[in-house]
Amino acid sequence: MTSPLILSTWSFSLPIIEAEYPKLSTSGSALDVVEQCAIAAESDESIDSVGYGGLPDREGRCTFDAAVMLSSPKSGSVCGIERHRHPVSIARLVMERTEHKMLVGSLADDFADSHGLPSESILSERAKAKWERWKQSNQDATPPAPFDHGHGELFGSHDTIGTIAIDAGGTMAGSCSTSGMAWKVPGRVGDSPIIGHGLYVDPQRGAATGTGHGELISGICGSFLVVELMGQGASPEEAIHRTLSRLAQCWPLKKEHQVAFIAATPEGNYAAGSLRPGFKYCVCVDKSARILDPDIVLHA
Ligand code: GLY
Repeated sequence: MTSPLILSTWSFSLPIIEAEYPKLSTSGSALDVVEQCAIAAESDESIDSVGYGGLPDREGRCTFDAAVMLSSPKSGSVCGIERHRHPVSIARLVMERTEHKMLVGSLADDFADSHGLPSESILSERAKAKWERWKQSNQDATPPAPFDHGHGELFGSHDTIGTIAIDAGGTMAGSCSTSGMAWKVPGRVGDSPIIGHGLYVDPQRGAATGTGHGELISGICGSFLVVELMGQGASPEEAIHRTLSRLAQCWPLKKEHQVAFIAATPEGNYAAGSLRPGFKYCVCVDKSARILDPDIVLHA
């Protein structure tokens, strides 16, 4: 029997995984848990990069992207959601109720309506006020600089909640959810809803999810690469290190670029790594939840 495990990006996920972990020790499924973790972050208005509370594009319009995954044939994702607060649940419906992988934009919102999910405003007053201040003071579309949220953690505006869970039956699942880059060009989609970029789960090889600048992650199919390297025998730490090194070789990195991955093997070995300092992740195993520094920081 496998020891249940939850790994999640950023310190804001600590209370979320603490609340969800007990379900894994009973009969809870990894898929339900990763969906609920994303829903909790999507509901928390204080998180300005996921769900309600997320910052809008440069025209003041908020859009959400999300994905869930169990295996190569079992994944679902959505992007450009504008009327539903829980894109992760729409992604799960895509996986479970269609033969497709991804739905986009207003038609994905219509699909959510057809499954009874409530249509709501997704731009919070606080996010709108931040956009109005940005609009008055800064017309160059620069995303907000990363800022220190305490614990030495720096996060900016593309800080996906990515969660990996293994349940007592050994099933592994992953989810991710984001409002994307603040002040993005309308229509921009990052790594999160693209299978293999922001999230990849392979029951034989392991799971990985990414956070940070989606363009960099997408450029190397980051989460797929981490999982593929684990499948070839690399530890989670080594797989993340090699993936971050590849990314750093491919991109003319700017000082504000940040990318991080968390990864786990089917046996429950795990690690995290980031391009630069400032990333934290959370783990819950054996009923104890902790905020951890990444095992690798490529440019420390
Ligand atoms: N990693 C989230 C995004 O870039 O949209």
